[in-house]
Formats: sequence, structure tokens, C-alpha cells
Amino acid sequence: MIFYDDKEKCFHIKTKNTSYVIGILKDKYLLQMYYGKKIKNYVNYIENCPVGNSYSWAGKDIEECGHIKDVNDIPFEYPCYGSPDLREPAFHAQYENGSAITDFEYQGYKIYEGKLKLAGLPCSYTETEDDAETLEIYLKDQVTGLEAVLSYTAFYDFDVITKNVKVKNGGTEKINIKRIMSSTVYLFGDGFELLHLEGNWGKERNIQRRKIINGEMSIDSKYGGSSHGHSPFIAMARSNADENNGEVYAQTLVYSGNHKTQIEATSQNVIRVNSGLNDFGFNWLLESGEDFQTPETILVYTDNGFGGMSRIFHRFIRTRITRGKHRDAVRPILLNNWEATYYDFDENRIVEIAKKAKDAGVELFVLDDGWFGDTPNKKYCFGDWKVDKNKLPYGIEGIAQKVTDMGLGFGLWFEPEAISEDSELFKAHPDWCIEVDGRKRSLVGAGGMRRLLDYSRKDVCDYIVETLSNILKSAPISYIKWDMNISMTEIGSYGLPPERQQELPHRYMLGLYDVLERITTAFPDVLYEGCASGGGRFDAGMMHYFQQYWTSDCTDAIQRLYIQYGTSMFLPASAMSAHVAACPNHQNGRTTPLETRANVAMTGQFGYEFDLNTLSDEDFEETKKHICLYKEIRETVNFGELYRLKSPFDSNNSVVEYVSDKKVVVMRCTILGEILSKRYNIKLKGLEPDAKYMDNESKIVYDGDYLMNVGLNFFNSRDFESQMIVFDKV
Ligand code: GLA
Repeated sequence: MIFYDDKEKCFHIKTKNTSYVIGILKDKYLLQMYYGKKIKNYVNYIENCPVGNSYSWAGKDIEECGHIKDVNDIPFEYPCYGSPDLREPAFHAQYENGSAITDFEYQGYKIYEGKLKLAGLPCSYTETEDDAETLEIYLKDQVTGLEAVLSYTAFYDFDVITKNVKVKNGGTEKINIKRIMSSTVYLFGDGFELLHLEGNWGKERNIQRRKIINGEMSIDSKYGGSSHGHSPFIAMARSNADENNGEVYAQTLVYSGNHKTQIEATSQNVIRVNSGLNDFGFNWLLESGEDFQTPETILVYTDNGFGGMSRIFHRFIRTRITRGKHRDAVRPILLNNWEATYYDFDENRIVEIAKKAKDAGVELFVLDDGWFGDTPNKKYCFGDWKVDKNKLPYGIEGIAQKVTDMGLGFGLWFEPEAISEDSELFKAHPDWCIEVDGRKRSLVGAGGMRRLLDYSRKDVCDYIVETLSNILKSAPISYIKWDMNISMTEIGSYGLPPERQQELPHRYMLGLYDVLERITTAFPDVLYEGCASGGGRFDAGMMHYFQQYWTSDCTDAIQRLYIQYGTSMFLPASAMSAHVAACPNHQNGRTTPLETRANVAMTGQFGYEFDLNTLSDEDFEETKKHICLYKEIRETVNFGELYRLKSPFDSNNSVVEYVSDKKVVVMRCTILGEILSKRYNIKLKGLEPDAKYMDNESKIVYDGDYLMNVGLNFFNSRDFESQMIVFDKV
């Protein structure tokens, strides 16, 4: 998988279909020679410089490059501030004498089987020894003694390369790290386009695609979490790349805090892409002997278009990032009471809702927000997590027992990163909040009634682990929805000295990851669902602890077509929670057929978000059928391969297909109906040409090659009309 070619002086990292080559120039500089489709050997790298410019550095003594034109096309593997290379660096630090120059020189390397954990951070893992191989390259700045380890892991069968960087202060003086990226990647040539996912609350992950032109662009989050605004994911593709064909270079960070991906294209047709922690408001003090570990970046290259790219991410995130007992298990169909009751419920109401859900075939009931504190008196006590006895006289234990006695699992909502000023916790520990003494404290969170606990403090983390553990031990709870609804603003910690205040956003994430690790390890049987005002922190970092995520607070089926389609760019269906909600929809007032609400939700982790007692008898019978159908297809949807056949972003339909060994599931939805609609044709993908597939409803048996070449025809006859087509491989 990885070897060092002594003759050519380069490292060659190989996966099944990709190659990544790093050359060593003058025994000192690391240069990124190639990343792309697999090659056998990289030869003659000085002459074969990937840059097609007459002023290229090829063959020159790099130290004689006197003019910017000589260096701004050099693909330095890990570029640092303080050299004639004046593009955006991956690393920037300031030393005690005020200088900010870093000049890392190559020292040596190590190649080993498997992969090590990243201290304190979520990361990919191996399951067998031959899953992956790792290359560590050692660098050192001779003046300051700062050392760096660049790590690369090749997951051969997955076609994934992961990268991370660790630095160690090997000198005697203090170092202030101002920027430290996880990865730098280069693309050579023009005609590249950038695809990224932007959004907002309730409309997460819209696909944006635009030309990469010379200059700089960045995709980032400054919210404290990875945000609704920009997911830590980008894909750069040749302009002719589409869903099924063409070269795509993509990456995502295994991180849930402030992130940044910088894309800088120069007139020499070299595109540098740095990705990692956001340097916005960031400074990290590294004392002598201390080290700093960056998050991991997952790199994917494919020439099978965006569909090929997504399938690689899905398989990898599902089985080499996500962990736990529920990773490979089909998940329970749940009903969550949030939109059914909001804060207005008591035990009887919950029992009534849960009973009806059970009759319909639902498997788990989730009690959402409003079960704690004293909501009628407006004392809404985040942090204390004491049950509201006015609503639940027998506590969580009582209601959990009643629900489990019905034969349903019981799940509970928490927002453990929040604290209310009314809480006993706040009175006892006013210094546990994120704030700066004497400064305004904005209530930047849903409903405005909560503030952010300071997870950079060990005492806060210990308190949360203990409080949650006590609740989890007190009742039969088999699912947790871990919510977070606050942006990190006016940042300050009473637990950090002045010179470390700008470490808070990252220290917060380290604290959160530590809490999540402790809770998920102590309660391994629980199914964990993440949430951040919907999909505000839905990233590969969180998928290391949570098996699924509440994709968006928008439950309208039509808006969800876009949200789920965009999310599927890098996150698998097994991670995407999707529920059937009441009509008119609570977020946008839209009325859609029950069947469409169910069909759209069935392309993720299926559930309900309303009281099924409100359904007519006829709709209740239909709902029972939907639940039976989901039980039949959920394995294929969650663990099969996704083929996106029609995009709502550029057509009047959304059509997605999931293929497993046993079944093929196609969900098609019309956005707007048309009078005398033109028919549209859907050719299935990923089937075996010679296998037979039986349509479960019509019982017609098709050959795989028929479905893939002749396809199926449909009409856009009515607004929001949809269909779930299931084929059994026979
Ligand atoms: C967030 C979540 C919702 C719900 C509410 C409760 O907005 O995304 O699903 O849990 O909080 O306050």
C-alpha cells in the first residue's frame, strides 16, 4: 500500500484505485507530486514536474528561487509561513523573539500496518490488520526545535487516504500556533469546479457548484460547531464531471468545531487546498515539550463522478468512523413527541401517544424537550436535569417503565451543553458558562433561554458525565437524542489563563469529545442520535459517537428532498434521521400527501414526529402499511449503495435508488405536477445485468440490463406525488 522508492526519492501511497506521491527534494523539502488515479510507479519527478509553466521550479535549486513567479507553483506538501512562497500557508506560528518563520526540513519516516488513534479526537479506525497502512513523515525546524509528524493512512479497499498532523515543541521557548491545518492538497490544471454544501437552520446542505477561478475562496464555520452554514466537506471536480462520470477530488474533516477549507488558485494553474481548524479567533500556546494534534482529513479521489465519491464516503463513514453496537444493526422506527406536543404534555398524554404508536408498529418512543425544570413557572432549568414532576409525577423512571411495558424502547432528549441562568447549577457555579466578565452575554440559542457550558473545564465535563450517567442508570433508556442549540459567541473561559483564552473553541470540542467517549463507552447498548437545531453539527466527527443524526428541523417532505439529497453527498442514509410530520407542516405550512411524507422519510432513519391519534382511520391503516414497508426495505436503504438518479436541485424530481444483494429500492418524487406532463425516464444503476429483479407490487420480473438500459417511465402528474418501488432480486 505504501512504499518508499529510494531511486526516485518519493513515497508512494496506494489504494485500490488511487495514488498519492510525495517527493523529497534536496533531502529537505517535501513536495506533493501527484494525487489521482492509480499509477504503478512515479518516475523522474524533477523533469515531470506537474506544473505546466515555463517558470516552473523543475530542475532548479529551490533555494535560488528569487522571484515569486519561481515559487508560487511549487506544491509544498506542508507549506509554512515565512518563505518566499506567499500563498496561504498550512502552518503559521510565532516564536518568543517575535519571528513567525517556520522552515520544516525532512528528517525521516516510518511505515507500519494499521493506524493509531488520535489523542482526544475522533478519527477513522481499522478493523483488521490489513485494512490500512500508515506512513509517518518526520520534519523539524532547526532554529526553534519545533517538530512535526505528517501522518497518512491508506485504507486500501475503501479508496480513502486520511491525513493528520502533529507538532511537538522540542525547543526550550514558548510557541504560539496561529494556524495549523490538517492537510494540503494540490490540483494541477484548469477547468476545476468546486462543489460545497451551504445552508441555514431548516434548509441545510444545499448543493453549490461553481468554477474555481484564480484567487482565494474559503468554506468555513465560526459558530463553535461545524454549523448549518457550511459543512466541513468539499468536492473539486473537472467541469465535465457529473453524477456518474468524471474526476472528483473530495475531502471532509473528522471534526465538529470551527473549521476552514481554503482554496487558492494561481495563474500557473496550481490549486492549493488547505483544510483543518479555523484560524479565526485561534491561538494555541505550545510550551516546551507539549504537542498539538490536528483533526483528521479524509481524502477521496474517484473518476466515477459525484455518485462514486459519495459511495466511498458512505461506506467509510458508516464502517470506519461510526462505532458501537448499533453501527451495523437496523435501527428502530421511532416516534418523537416534539412536534406532537412541544412543551405541552403530561404523562397521560405521552402514554396515549406511545400506545397508538405501538399499535401502528413503531418500535421506540422518544420523549423530547420539556421533561425537566418547571416550564409552567418559566423556570426552564438546563443543567440541573431534574424532572418536572408536574408533568411526570413518577419521574423518568415511571414514564420509561410505562413505555417499555408496552413493548416499545424508550428514548430521551438532552441538551447537555446548555445551562440556564435560573438553574441551581448556575447559582452554584456562575463561572461554568462561556463568557467574558464585564462583557455583554448574548443569548444566542433557540428560544434564547440557554447559555453555553464551558466544556473546556474538566469539572464541567465530569459533572455532565455523572449527571447523565445517573439518569441513564435510573431508567430503561435505550436511545439518547443529544441536542445542542447555541452558537459560541463572546468567548471566554474562567478556567483558562489570559494567554490561553483563544484556545477555548478547540478545547471545548476536546472536552465534548471526552464526554461523548465516556458516556458512549459506559452505556454501549444505547443508540445515540445527534442533533444541533437539526443538522447544525452533522459531520464525520460526530458520527464517531452517534450512529444517527437529526438531519434538519425542517420536516416538510419537499424541503427534505433537497436537504437529504445534499446531505447524501458525504453522509450515509444510515446516519440521516427523517420523520413523517403533521400537515400543514409546522415549518413552512405546506400540505403534502401522507404517502409522500412517508416515502421521503423512508430514505433515511424512519420515524414519526406527530401524534398518530390525530390520523383518520384510513390514514392510520395507510401508516401501518408504511411501517411494514420500511421494515422490509430498511436494511437496503441503510446499508446498500446509493445511486442518485435525479436531482431536485436541477430537475422537477428527486429520484434515489438503494441497491443491496437482495433488493433494489427506488424512491421517486415529483416536485410540481404538470398539465400533460412529459414523461421522464429513469435508468437504474448498480444492478447485475444478468440478474432478475421482481417489482414487488406488479410482480413483473425484469432483467438487470433492462432496468439499467431501457429503464422505467413516469409522469409528473400531481404536485408532491411520489412512489416507492421495491424490487426483489429473484
Ligand atoms: C432542537 C431540535 C428539535 C427539538 C428542539 C427541542 O431544535 O432540533 O428536534 O428537539 O430542539 O427544543
